Amino acid sequence: MTGTKTVHLIAAARPNFMKVAPLYHALVADGGFDVKLVHTGQHYDENMSQAFFDDLGLPKPHYYLEVGSGTHAQQTGKVMMRYEETAMAQRPDITVVVGDVNSTAAVAMVCAKLHIPVVHLEAGLRSGDRTMPEEINRLVTDAISDLLWTPSPDGDENLLREGVPAARIVRVGNIMLDSFEMQRERISADDSVTRLGLTRGEYGVVTLHRPANVDGFAALDLLTTQLIAAAEMVPLVFPVHPRTRGSLQQHKLLDRLEACPGIALTDPLGYIQFMGVVTGAMLVITDSGGLQEETTYLDIPCITLRPNTERPITISEGTNRLAQPAELSANVRKVIQGEWPSGRRPEYWDGNTALRCVASLKAYLANA
Ligand code: UD1
Repeated sequence: MTGTKTVHLIAAARPNFMKVAPLYHALVADGGFDVKLVHTGQHYDENMSQAFFDDLGLPKPHYYLEVGSGTHAQQTGKVMMRYEETAMAQRPDITVVVGDVNSTAAVAMVCAKLHIPVVHLEAGLRSGDRTMPEEINRLVTDAISDLLWTPSPDGDENLLREGVPAARIVRVGNIMLDSFEMQRERISADDSVTRLGLTRGEYGVVTLHRPANVDGFAALDLLTTQLIAAAEMVPLVFPVHPRTRGSLQQHKLLDRLEACPGIALTDPLGYIQFMGVVTGAMLVITDSGGLQEETTYLDIPCITLRPNTERPITISEGTNRLAQPAELSANVRKVIQGEWPSGRRPEYWDGNTALRCVASLKAYLANA
């Protein structure tokens, strides 16, 4: 690789920030790159965005696209139009997109058409469920990326099966855990558990935001009933995503949860506070992707309220199990009774993924 290369790192929504941060820091530390952070603005609330930038030591974005919320087409289209302007003006040598949100696919499409090489970090994950927007974003992004960084062997296999040349696939591991290791001391020192009046090892953490679980009344009503039943066995902390809060209010279910003495509802937490609460939990109830991985890494039982997962290694090697919403409280009982399998950490989930990404990027640019 000769000369400094300009890299655009794309950050859009909450689950992106902990994937972008370790790579940003590793690229800057290397010295061979001019790294520009591009925030599409898909998430914009202070506690869904800025709090993560602060916690993860990320600077103010160099480019802020301010796309905000909207329908899928509106959001995807706005990112494409606005990133195209930035990319044409700046002509980065390479652009890195992460995860599976609308901005990921939108930016990858812009780059492919402008012939800017694009790298997908967290490539190859597949749930097989095309009713989820994230699965469409994954398929589109992987089909047009030039370099695909996978977190686990299933990712490599999925891509090979879809016809991606082996030379483009590099298994780098799970970068989110780099963020955890980088912030481990601050996470251990966090006192949110005490401030919530809880005892470490004696409570559960809940996060829910998938449209299938939270948008309609029937699903949300069932989950509310199940959470209240679970809270009779173990106290629960539930940081509520804005989408979920809106839906709970609309369906008049928020009052029921607020009235339940075993459930502490909070606003979304920043990264350090949230991981501080998760590391002390006896169990996690979620429909998030990242938490399935973090709980496997931390060996904490995870009940995932989805019919499928794009992260099967968290089941085959880790502590994650899928459950129907109607089975939630029965699963919580299993954890309390000690009937939950423990797991092991998958290969390359070790806090050194960002370094492997930098090495791979250099090798790619040297041959470009
Ligand atoms: C998005 C991602 C999802 C990811 C999730 C993490 C897609 C298709 N979905 O879903 O993969 O797991 O982020 O949170 O890209 N809102 C706010 N403030 C914000 C952001 C959102 O109030 O900062 C509200 C808005 O009312 C918005 C709704 O939440 O309409 C949903 O936000 P949106 O970005 O469309 O999708 P998420 O459900 O957050």
